[in-house]
Amino acid sequence: MRTDVWVITLPASKTLVQTGLQWLDPDEHARLRRMPSESNRDRFVACRTVLRYCLAPHLNCSEANVRFTYGASGKPEIPGCSRSFNISHSGDYGLVAISLAPAVGVDIEHVNARRNLAALTRHVFHPNEIVAFDRVEPKLRGKFFYDLWVRKEAVTKWLGDSIFRVKDINVLDTMSSPRVITVNGRGSAWVMPVKVSSQYASAVAIDTFIDSPCPTVTIHEWNG
Ligand SMILES: CC(C)(COP(=O)(O)OP(=O)(O)OC[C@H]1O[C@@H](n2cnc3c(N)ncnc32)[C@H](O)[C@@H]1OP(=O)(O)O)[C@@H](O)C(=O)NCCC(=O)NCCS
Repeated sequence: MRTDVWVITLPASKTLVQTGLQWLDPDEHARLRRMPSESNRDRFVACRTVLRYCLAPHLNCSEANVRFTYGASGKPEIPGCSRSFNISHSGDYGLVAISLAPAVGVDIEHVNARRNLAALTRHVFHPNEIVAFDRVEPKLRGKFFYDLWVRKEAVTKWLGDSIFRVKDINVLDTMSSPRVITVNGRGSAWVMPVKVSSQYASAVAIDTFIDSPCPTVTIHEWNG
């Protein structure tokens, strides 16, 4: 099951943003008007633009005619599309994942080791993950925290859920190598890292049947 991840370096080019602005639907324009900072507006438009470039050929329509619906917790979707997709953005990067699997989730986070991560784990990590975090050498805890966190968030986004349930998801087994995790009654997904930059952690969760081989993930830089 092929999955492509497009890496957009932010801020994106003015050309990309100007082009994409013309393709936004009225709801997206309304969201844009509510965004307080220019950088937030730019990254929103840039990622939606790349997403439209990637999806339009599979929908046999122009980029301007790519329209999204939204799941109960806000996941953008296109019913009937032959590709699943997901977006994440943080700091200098936006990621757009496009997959042949029925659902995909992607997450990227800037590694900020100065936050009080031990306290945060108590709110967002599964009990087994907290035990593992406490055993990590203090100077390596920042990287461990974010590597684990992006896997949890990628799973949340694969499911189209809210982050408030993230504590129930245990992805510890996926830290050493790509693994399938199963969420009761919801299905299974391959969870694996996506290498973007040493200062960022990122991961993807790809819908799968339990015995399917590890999918291929191809990473591309978006130029333009
Ligand atoms: C999904 C969520 C975890 C993403 O958090 P984040 O780290 O701030 O953001 P990221 O940059 O990784 O991802 C944002 C992108 O994920 C997508 N997205 C939004 N909600 C999503 C969801 N529930 N599942 C999967 N993807 C989602 C969108 O494409 C969004 O980017 P865009 O709006 O610019 O296109 C967080 O927004 C969340 O918990 N949302 C649910 C809120 C909720 O439960 N609402 C209930 C209805 S009011």
